[in-house]
Amino acid sequence: MKLPLPISVRTFCLGTTLALAAILAGCKPPSADTPASADKAGGKGLTVGFAQVGAESSWRTAETKSIQDEAEKRGVTLKFSDAQGKQENQIKAVRGFIAQGVDAIILAPVVETGWEPVLREAKQAKIPVVLVDRGVKVEDESLFATLIASDFVAEGRMAAEWLVKKTGGKAQIIELQGTPGAAPAIDRKRGFEEGIKASPEMKIIASQSGDFTRTGGKQVTEALLKVHAGVTVVYAHNDDMAIGAIQALEEAGKKPGTDVIVVSIDGVKGAFEAMVAGKLNCTVECSPLLGALAFDAVEKAKAGTAMEKKTVVPDRVFDQSTAAQELPNRKY
Ligand code: AHR
Repeated sequence: MKLPLPISVRTFCLGTTLALAAILAGCKPPSADTPASADKAGGKGLTVGFAQVGAESSWRTAETKSIQDEAEKRGVTLKFSDAQGKQENQIKAVRGFIAQGVDAIILAPVVETGWEPVLREAKQAKIPVVLVDRGVKVEDESLFATLIASDFVAEGRMAAEWLVKKTGGKAQIIELQGTPGAAPAIDRKRGFEEGIKASPEMKIIASQSGDFTRTGGKQVTEALLKVHAGVTVVYAHNDDMAIGAIQALEEAGKKPGTDVIVVSIDGVKGAFEAMVAGKLNCTVECSPLLGALAFDAVEKAKAGTAMEKKTVVPDRVFDQSTAAQELPNRKY
Protein backbone atom coordinates (compact mmCIF):
# COMPACT_ATOMS: atom_id res chain seq x y z
CA MET A 1 0.00 0.00 0.00
CA LYS A 2 1.36 3.47 -0.97
CA LEU A 3 1.34 6.16 1.77
CA PRO A 4 0.55 9.76 0.62
CA LEU A 5 3.68 11.98 0.58
CA PRO A 6 3.84 14.95 3.01
CA ILE A 7 3.12 18.31 1.30
CA SER A 8 6.74 19.56 1.65
CA VAL A 9 8.07 16.42 -0.09
CA ARG A 10 5.43 16.72 -2.84
CA THR A 11 6.35 20.40 -3.39
CA PHE A 12 10.04 19.53 -3.50
CA CYS A 13 9.42 16.72 -6.02
CA LEU A 14 7.20 18.96 -8.18
CA GLY A 15 9.78 21.78 -8.04
CA THR A 16 12.60 19.41 -8.96
CA THR A 17 10.53 17.92 -11.79
CA LEU A 18 9.70 21.41 -13.17
CA ALA A 19 13.31 22.57 -12.93
CA LEU A 20 14.49 19.37 -14.62
CA ALA A 21 11.88 19.75 -17.34
CA ALA A 22 12.98 23.35 -17.88
CA ILE A 23 16.64 22.38 -18.12
CA LEU A 24 15.83 19.49 -20.47
CA ALA A 25 13.76 21.85 -22.61
CA GLY A 26 16.80 24.12 -22.83
CA CYS A 27 15.29 27.08 -20.93
CA LYS A 28 16.14 28.62 -17.57
CA PRO A 29 13.77 28.15 -14.63
CA PRO A 30 12.19 31.47 -13.38
CA SER A 31 14.79 33.66 -11.69
CA ALA A 32 15.42 37.31 -10.81
CA ASP A 33 16.39 38.13 -14.39
CA THR A 34 13.23 36.62 -15.94
CA PRO A 35 11.33 39.30 -17.93
CA ALA A 36 8.71 41.15 -15.84
CA SER A 37 5.77 39.91 -17.92
CA ALA A 38 6.43 36.29 -17.07
CA ASP A 39 6.68 36.88 -13.33
CA LYS A 40 3.89 39.42 -12.86
CA ALA A 41 0.80 37.91 -14.40
CA GLY A 42 -2.39 39.64 -13.21
CA GLY A 43 -0.64 42.94 -12.43
CA LYS A 44 0.61 41.92 -8.97
CA GLY A 45 4.18 43.07 -8.48
CA LEU A 46 4.20 45.42 -11.48
CA THR A 47 5.57 48.94 -11.15
CA VAL A 48 3.64 51.45 -13.26
CA GLY A 49 4.30 55.16 -13.76
CA PHE A 50 1.25 57.42 -14.06
CA ALA A 51 1.88 60.80 -15.70
CA GLN A 52 -1.21 62.84 -14.84
CA VAL A 53 -2.17 66.27 -16.26
CA GLY A 54 -2.68 67.91 -12.87
CA ALA A 55 -5.59 68.62 -10.54
CA GLU A 56 -7.38 71.35 -12.52
CA SER A 57 -10.91 69.96 -12.06
CA SER A 58 -12.97 67.64 -9.88
CA TRP A 59 -13.13 65.30 -12.89
CA ARG A 60 -9.33 65.09 -12.91
CA THR A 61 -9.18 64.35 -9.17
CA ALA A 62 -11.71 61.55 -9.68
CA GLU A 63 -9.60 60.08 -12.48
CA THR A 64 -6.47 60.13 -10.31
CA LYS A 65 -8.34 58.37 -7.50
CA SER A 66 -9.71 55.75 -9.87
CA ILE A 67 -6.20 54.87 -11.10
CA GLN A 68 -4.69 54.91 -7.60
CA ASP A 69 -7.47 52.73 -6.13
CA GLU A 70 -7.21 50.21 -8.95
CA ALA A 71 -3.41 49.99 -8.59
CA GLU A 72 -3.82 49.25 -4.90
CA LYS A 73 -6.51 46.65 -5.58
CA ARG A 74 -4.25 44.80 -8.02
CA GLY A 75 -1.05 45.00 -5.96
CA VAL A 76 0.61 47.33 -8.48
CA THR A 77 3.23 49.81 -7.25
CA LEU A 78 2.18 53.16 -8.71
CA LYS A 79 4.61 56.00 -9.26
CA PHE A 80 2.53 59.16 -9.60
CA SER A 81 3.46 62.44 -11.23
CA ASP A 82 1.33 65.61 -11.35
CA ALA A 83 2.44 67.78 -14.30
CA GLN A 84 0.54 70.86 -13.07
CA GLY A 85 -0.89 71.34 -16.53
CA LYS A 86 2.49 71.63 -18.25
CA GLN A 87 3.58 69.32 -21.06
CA GLU A 88 7.28 69.84 -20.30
CA ASN A 89 6.72 68.50 -16.75
CA GLN A 90 4.91 65.50 -18.17
CA ILE A 91 7.70 64.74 -20.64
CA LYS A 92 10.22 64.93 -17.76
CA ALA A 93 8.05 62.58 -15.70
CA VAL A 94 7.83 60.03 -18.54
CA ARG A 95 11.62 60.20 -18.99
CA GLY A 96 12.02 59.67 -15.24
CA PHE A 97 9.78 56.58 -15.37
CA ILE A 98 11.84 55.20 -18.26
CA ALA A 99 15.08 55.80 -16.32
CA GLN A 100 13.61 53.95 -13.32
CA GLY A 101 12.75 51.00 -15.55
CA VAL A 102 9.02 50.84 -14.76
CA ASP A 103 7.02 47.97 -16.29
CA ALA A 104 4.53 50.29 -18.03
CA ILE A 105 3.46 53.93 -18.22
CA ILE A 106 -0.06 55.35 -18.06
CA LEU A 107 -0.19 58.79 -19.66
CA ALA A 108 -3.03 61.33 -19.70
CA PRO A 109 -1.44 63.83 -22.09
CA VAL A 110 -1.97 67.55 -21.42
CA VAL A 111 -1.97 68.39 -25.15
CA GLU A 112 -2.21 66.39 -28.37
CA THR A 113 1.07 67.19 -30.12
CA GLY A 114 4.80 66.97 -29.36
CA TRP A 115 4.92 63.41 -28.00
CA GLU A 116 6.92 61.51 -30.65
CA PRO A 117 10.44 61.80 -29.13
CA VAL A 118 9.56 60.68 -25.61
CA LEU A 119 7.18 57.94 -26.82
CA ARG A 120 9.96 56.66 -29.06
CA GLU A 121 12.27 56.52 -26.03
CA ALA A 122 9.68 54.46 -24.14
CA LYS A 123 9.30 52.12 -27.10
CA GLN A 124 13.07 51.66 -27.36
CA ALA A 125 13.13 50.79 -23.67
CA LYS A 126 10.30 48.27 -24.34
CA ILE A 127 8.00 50.05 -21.89
CA PRO A 128 4.38 50.04 -23.12
CA VAL A 129 2.49 53.33 -22.84
CA VAL A 130 -1.27 53.24 -22.21
CA LEU A 131 -3.01 56.54 -22.98
CA VAL A 132 -5.98 57.42 -20.83
CA ASP A 133 -8.66 60.08 -21.36
CA ARG A 134 -6.83 62.19 -23.98
CA GLY A 135 -5.27 61.14 -27.27
CA VAL A 136 -2.07 62.22 -29.02
CA LYS A 137 -1.33 63.08 -32.64
CA VAL A 138 1.54 60.86 -33.83
CA GLU A 139 2.39 59.47 -37.28
CA ASP A 140 3.41 56.10 -35.86
CA GLU A 141 0.59 54.61 -33.79
CA SER A 142 2.83 51.81 -32.55
CA LEU A 143 4.32 54.39 -30.17
CA PHE A 144 1.50 53.71 -27.73
CA ALA A 145 -0.24 50.47 -26.78
CA THR A 146 -3.81 51.72 -26.70
CA LEU A 147 -6.05 54.71 -25.87
CA ILE A 148 -8.96 54.53 -23.43
CA ALA A 149 -11.15 57.63 -23.70
CA SER A 150 -14.52 59.17 -24.36
CA ASP A 151 -15.49 60.46 -27.79
CA PHE A 152 -15.07 64.20 -27.16
CA VAL A 153 -16.48 65.21 -30.55
CA ALA A 154 -19.65 63.25 -29.80
CA GLU A 155 -19.87 64.95 -26.38
CA GLY A 156 -19.77 68.42 -27.99
CA ARG A 157 -22.39 67.32 -30.51
CA MET A 158 -24.67 65.94 -27.78
CA ALA A 159 -24.44 69.24 -25.85
CA ALA A 160 -25.33 71.16 -29.04
CA GLU A 161 -28.24 68.87 -29.94
CA TRP A 162 -29.71 69.21 -26.46
CA LEU A 163 -29.33 73.00 -26.71
CA VAL A 164 -30.93 73.29 -30.16
CA LYS A 165 -34.00 71.51 -28.80
CA LYS A 166 -34.07 73.59 -25.61
CA THR A 167 -33.73 76.97 -27.37
CA GLY A 168 -35.72 76.19 -30.50
CA GLY A 169 -32.58 76.85 -32.54
CA LYS A 170 -31.99 80.43 -31.42
CA ALA A 171 -29.18 81.47 -29.07
CA GLN A 172 -26.36 83.95 -28.38
CA ILE A 173 -23.65 81.69 -27.02
CA ILE A 174 -20.52 82.28 -24.97
CA GLU A 175 -18.20 79.29 -25.27
CA LEU A 176 -15.70 78.52 -22.50
CA GLN A 177 -12.97 76.41 -24.03
CA GLY A 178 -10.68 73.98 -22.21
CA THR A 179 -6.88 74.09 -22.24
CA PRO A 180 -5.57 75.22 -25.66
CA GLY A 181 -4.19 72.26 -27.61
CA ALA A 182 -5.87 69.63 -25.38
CA ALA A 183 -7.87 66.95 -27.19
CA PRO A 184 -11.13 67.60 -25.28
CA ALA A 185 -10.92 71.36 -25.98
CA ILE A 186 -10.34 70.83 -29.71
CA ASP A 187 -12.90 68.05 -30.12
CA ARG A 188 -15.67 69.46 -27.92
CA LYS A 189 -15.47 72.72 -29.87
CA ARG A 190 -15.66 70.86 -33.17
CA GLY A 191 -18.52 68.62 -32.08
CA PHE A 192 -20.52 71.56 -30.76
CA GLU A 193 -20.02 73.55 -33.96
CA GLU A 194 -21.16 70.54 -35.99
CA GLY A 195 -24.23 70.21 -33.77
CA ILE A 196 -25.40 73.82 -34.26
CA LYS A 197 -24.42 74.05 -37.96
CA ALA A 198 -27.92 73.43 -39.30
CA SER A 199 -29.38 76.17 -37.05
CA PRO A 200 -28.25 79.55 -38.45
CA GLU A 201 -29.66 81.45 -35.49
CA MET A 202 -27.45 79.61 -33.00
CA LYS A 203 -24.49 81.99 -32.81
CA ILE A 204 -21.24 81.69 -30.86
CA ILE A 205 -20.68 85.37 -30.00
CA ALA A 206 -17.47 84.81 -27.99
CA SER A 207 -15.15 81.86 -27.38
CA GLN A 208 -12.24 81.86 -24.92
CA SER A 209 -10.21 79.43 -22.83
CA GLY A 210 -10.93 79.06 -19.12
CA ASP A 211 -8.30 76.30 -18.91
CA PHE A 212 -10.75 73.72 -17.52
CA THR A 213 -10.69 75.45 -14.10
CA ARG A 214 -13.45 76.97 -11.98
CA THR A 215 -11.45 80.20 -11.55
CA GLY A 216 -10.76 80.37 -15.28
CA GLY A 217 -14.46 79.89 -16.09
CA LYS A 218 -15.46 82.63 -13.65
CA GLN A 219 -12.88 85.18 -14.79
CA VAL A 220 -13.54 84.68 -18.52
CA THR A 221 -17.31 84.89 -18.03
CA GLU A 222 -16.95 88.07 -15.95
CA ALA A 223 -14.89 89.69 -18.70
CA LEU A 224 -17.14 88.52 -21.54
CA LEU A 225 -20.37 89.60 -19.81
CA LYS A 226 -19.09 93.18 -19.86
CA VAL A 227 -19.02 93.19 -23.67
CA HIS A 228 -21.78 90.68 -24.45
CA ALA A 229 -24.72 91.64 -22.26
CA GLY A 230 -27.10 89.90 -24.69
CA VAL A 231 -25.77 86.41 -23.98
CA THR A 232 -28.47 83.73 -23.68
CA VAL A 233 -26.31 80.60 -23.34
CA VAL A 234 -22.99 79.60 -21.75
CA TYR A 235 -21.49 76.43 -23.23
CA ALA A 236 -18.53 75.25 -21.11
CA HIS A 237 -16.15 72.44 -22.11
CA ASN A 238 -16.28 71.16 -18.53
CA ASP A 239 -18.43 71.38 -15.41
CA ASP A 240 -15.86 73.23 -13.31
CA MET A 241 -15.78 76.14 -15.78
CA ALA A 242 -19.60 76.10 -15.89
CA ILE A 243 -19.75 76.34 -12.08
CA GLY A 244 -17.33 79.30 -12.25
CA ALA A 245 -19.54 80.87 -14.95
CA ILE A 246 -22.63 80.40 -12.74
CA GLN A 247 -20.92 82.42 -9.99
CA ALA A 248 -20.01 85.17 -12.47
CA LEU A 249 -23.57 85.30 -13.83
CA GLU A 250 -25.02 85.59 -10.32
CA GLU A 251 -22.58 88.33 -9.38
CA ALA A 252 -23.63 90.18 -12.55
CA GLY A 253 -27.26 90.03 -11.39
CA LYS A 254 -28.36 87.31 -13.82
CA LYS A 255 -30.18 84.07 -13.00
CA PRO A 256 -28.14 81.15 -14.36
CA GLY A 257 -30.36 78.33 -15.57
CA THR A 258 -33.23 80.76 -16.30
CA ASP A 259 -31.96 84.08 -17.80
CA VAL A 260 -28.93 82.33 -19.22
CA ILE A 261 -28.94 78.63 -20.09
CA VAL A 262 -25.78 76.83 -18.93
CA VAL A 263 -24.67 73.57 -20.53
CA SER A 264 -21.43 71.70 -19.93
CA ILE A 265 -19.60 68.37 -20.02
CA ASP A 266 -18.26 65.88 -17.39
CA GLY A 267 -21.19 64.93 -15.15
CA VAL A 268 -19.45 65.54 -11.81
CA LYS A 269 -21.49 65.59 -8.57
CA GLY A 270 -21.20 69.39 -8.36
CA ALA A 271 -22.92 69.68 -11.75
CA PHE A 272 -25.81 67.51 -10.57
CA GLU A 273 -26.16 69.64 -7.44
CA ALA A 274 -26.21 72.77 -9.62
CA MET A 275 -28.90 71.20 -11.83
CA VAL A 276 -31.01 70.29 -8.78
CA ALA A 277 -30.63 73.95 -7.65
CA GLY A 278 -31.86 75.03 -11.10
CA LYS A 279 -28.60 76.84 -12.00
CA LEU A 280 -27.13 74.44 -14.55
CA ASN A 281 -29.36 73.12 -17.32
CA CYS A 282 -27.51 70.15 -18.78
CA THR A 283 -24.31 68.15 -18.48
CA VAL A 284 -22.94 65.51 -20.83
CA GLU A 285 -21.26 62.70 -18.92
CA CYS A 286 -17.59 61.88 -19.51
CA SER A 287 -16.43 59.11 -17.22
CA PRO A 288 -13.14 59.56 -15.33
CA LEU A 289 -13.43 56.06 -13.83
CA LEU A 290 -10.79 54.59 -16.09
CA GLY A 291 -8.65 52.70 -13.56
CA ALA A 292 -9.88 49.16 -14.27
CA LEU A 293 -9.69 49.59 -18.06
CA ALA A 294 -6.24 51.17 -17.82
CA PHE A 295 -4.74 48.32 -15.79
CA ASP A 296 -6.46 45.68 -17.93
CA ALA A 297 -4.64 47.29 -20.86
CA VAL A 298 -1.33 47.39 -18.97
CA GLU A 299 -1.64 43.68 -18.19
CA LYS A 300 -2.50 42.84 -21.80
CA ALA A 301 0.43 44.91 -23.06
CA LYS A 302 2.81 43.12 -20.67
CA ALA A 303 1.46 39.73 -21.71
CA GLY A 304 1.75 40.62 -25.40
CA THR A 305 -2.02 40.13 -25.88
CA ALA A 306 -3.49 41.93 -28.89
CA MET A 307 -5.93 44.75 -28.13
CA GLU A 308 -7.92 47.48 -29.87
CA LYS A 309 -6.02 50.72 -30.54
CA LYS A 310 -8.90 52.68 -28.98
CA THR A 311 -11.57 51.87 -26.44
CA VAL A 312 -14.40 54.41 -26.44
CA VAL A 313 -16.08 54.89 -23.09
CA PRO A 314 -19.84 55.53 -23.56
CA ASP A 315 -21.37 58.81 -22.30
CA ARG A 316 -24.92 59.97 -21.48
CA VAL A 317 -26.77 63.30 -21.37
CA PHE A 318 -28.41 64.52 -18.15
CA ASP A 319 -30.56 67.60 -17.63
CA GLN A 320 -32.69 69.04 -14.84
CA SER A 321 -35.47 66.53 -15.53
CA THR A 322 -33.31 63.59 -14.37
CA ALA A 323 -30.76 65.30 -12.08
CA ALA A 324 -32.38 64.70 -8.68
CA GLN A 325 -32.99 61.03 -9.45
CA GLU A 326 -29.42 60.52 -10.70
CA LEU A 327 -27.55 62.52 -8.02
CA PRO A 328 -27.43 59.71 -5.39
CA ASN A 329 -25.95 57.34 -8.01
CA ARG A 330 -23.03 59.57 -8.97
CA LYS A 331 -19.67 58.02 -8.13
CA TYR A 332 -17.58 61.13 -8.83
O1 AHR B 1 -9.71 65.31 -20.53
C1 AHR B 1 -10.88 65.36 -19.81
C2 AHR B 1 -11.17 66.76 -19.36
O2 AHR B 1 -10.08 67.27 -18.63
C3 AHR B 1 -12.36 66.90 -18.44
O3 AHR B 1 -13.50 67.24 -19.09
C4 AHR B 1 -11.95 68.06 -17.61
O4 AHR B 1 -12.74 68.30 -16.50
C5 AHR B 1 -10.54 67.75 -17.39
O5 AHR B 1 -9.80 68.69 -16.77
